This record gives sequence, structure tokens and C-alpha cells, in this order.
Amino acid sequence: MTSSDSIRMEKLSYTIGGRRILEDFDFSLERGVNRTILGISGAGKTTILKLLLGLLQPDAGRVCIGDVCITGVPESDFMELRKRIAIVFQGGALFDSMTVGENVGYRLFEEGRLSQVEIEQIIREKLSFVGVEPALDLYPAELSGGMKKRVAIARALAADPDYIFFDEPTTGLDPIGVYNICNLMQRLQAEGKTTLMVTHDLETAFRTSQRFTFLHQARMIFEGTQEEMRESRLPEVQQFLRPTVESLFV
Ligand SMILES: Nc1ncnc2c1ncn2[C@@H]1O[C@H](COP(=O)(O)OP(=O)(O)O)[C@@H](O)[C@H]1O
Ligand SMILES: [Mg+2]
Repeated sequence: MTSSDSIRMEKLSYTIGGRRILEDFDFSLERGVNRTILGISGAGKTTILKLLLGLLQPDAGRVCIGDVCITGVPESDFMELRKRIAIVFQGGALFDSMTVGENVGYRLFEEGRLSQVEIEQIIREKLSFVGVEPALDLYPAELSGGMKKRVAIARALAADPDYIFFDEPTTGLDPIGVYNICNLMQRLQAEGKTTLMVTHDLETAFRTSQRFTFLHQARMIFEGTQEEMRESRLPEVQQFLRPTVESLFV
């Protein structure tokens, strides 16, 4: 494996409003290894995804996509590279004024490289992959939460990325919705996509990832497999795995 197959954070620090969100954070996502970053709400998980995409600039350290370091570089210089990565935002971030089909094809229409017929074919194929093709002409407001997430995934897949980032993809879904999303992530992995999820949902993490990073108070305090996590002696990790009733009220 070469460095051109990984996305990395090197000694990254990031502060918002005087609060240190990340400190000296090292992280690597290699092609083919599906990872989850775990952490409590407010820990900085969404921030990590935005930093990895170059949507935020770190205070120190750098982000590299393959051999190219994108920190401090104009966005236009790494747009092509970033197309290899898609993100499914927590709320789905669908455009309410567009139909499901328009949402999925939006970026392809904007790029203008493909014909209308080609784009429509991709839209149908991606919607069929996530199992919501019948919703093609509906508007986001007409969809359930689980369907919205699936449409957001279809949209992320439209540009055929190698890496897909998921921000809390199962939060707020019922058990069937959670099952559907886990199943989709596994199918994407089987097709060779590399997934990075940030979540506090352990069940989804264990069902879809091989490696886990635990973010606590701006630092990565654990990195390893599910088994290593269960065996970890770190109290923060153990508490996350088995929250006690008392800790829920702290
Ligand atoms: N634009 C912002 N302005 C001020 N604080 C922010 C902003 N975005 C995030 N934060 C704060 O930064 C911390 C990390 O946020 P986030 O990455 O969204 O956490 P997570 O995704 O783990 O819940 C939180 O405490 C949040 O309140
Ligand atoms: Mg978040």
C-alpha cells in the first residue's frame, strides 16, 4: 500500500471559540480499511470530517490526501482529488426545493460533463442501489427519516467516490432503518468503497467497521479493533462501552 491510498491527519490541532477541539491528532484512513471514530456528543467528530475534506483549516498540523497535502492550499488546487471522497452529512442536507432525483443528480448536472440521459441513468442506478427508486419524483419533505438518509447516500454515490464519510448515519432511525443503513454500508464496502464513519452508536460501528478510534478531550486515546477496545483498561473507553446509570446524569 502506498501513501497515495490514504487520507491522513498529521499532528493536527484545531480550536473553536477558545476551546481546543483537537490537539496533536494523528489519524490515517487507508484504502480498504473501514473505520469508525467514536466519541461523545460535542467531542469534535463532525469537525474531524470537515477538516479531512478541507472545509475547515487547522491551527497546526496538516491533512494529506494521498501524496498531496491540502492544508494551506487553495481549494481549487485539490478539487479533483476531493472528488474521490463523498460525505453523507448527519441531517442528509438534501435540498428541499429539489426532487429526490434532482438531489441525487445535482452535482453531475452542475459539472455538465455527462448528458441528461447518462445522468438520469446514474440517478436511477444509485436510487435503486439504496432501495428508494420509487421516490424519484418526490420531495424530501415527503420522505421518512430513513429514506432521506438513503437518498443522501445515493447522492454521495453519484460521483462514484472511492471514500465515503458518514456522519452519524443511524442516529434517530428505528431498528429497521439502522439495519438498512448498516446493510448499505456493508454492500458499499463489498464493492470496494472505503468508509469512515463518525458516531456515538456502537452497534452500527461494530457492525460496519474493522478499526476504531476513540476521541476524548481533543485527543485520540484509543485506536484498535473491536476486541482490543473491549479489552482496553482505559476507564473512558470502558464507560463508553458500558455507560452506567450514574454516568448518564453527570
Ligand atoms: N461553528 C461553531 N462555532 C462554535 N462552536 C462550534 C462550532 N461548530 C462546532 N462547535 C463546537 O465544537 C465542538 C465539537 O463539535 P462537533 O465536531 O460538531 O462535535 P460532534 O460531532 O462530536 O458532536 C462542540 O462543542 C460544538 O459545540
Ligand atoms: Mg457531529
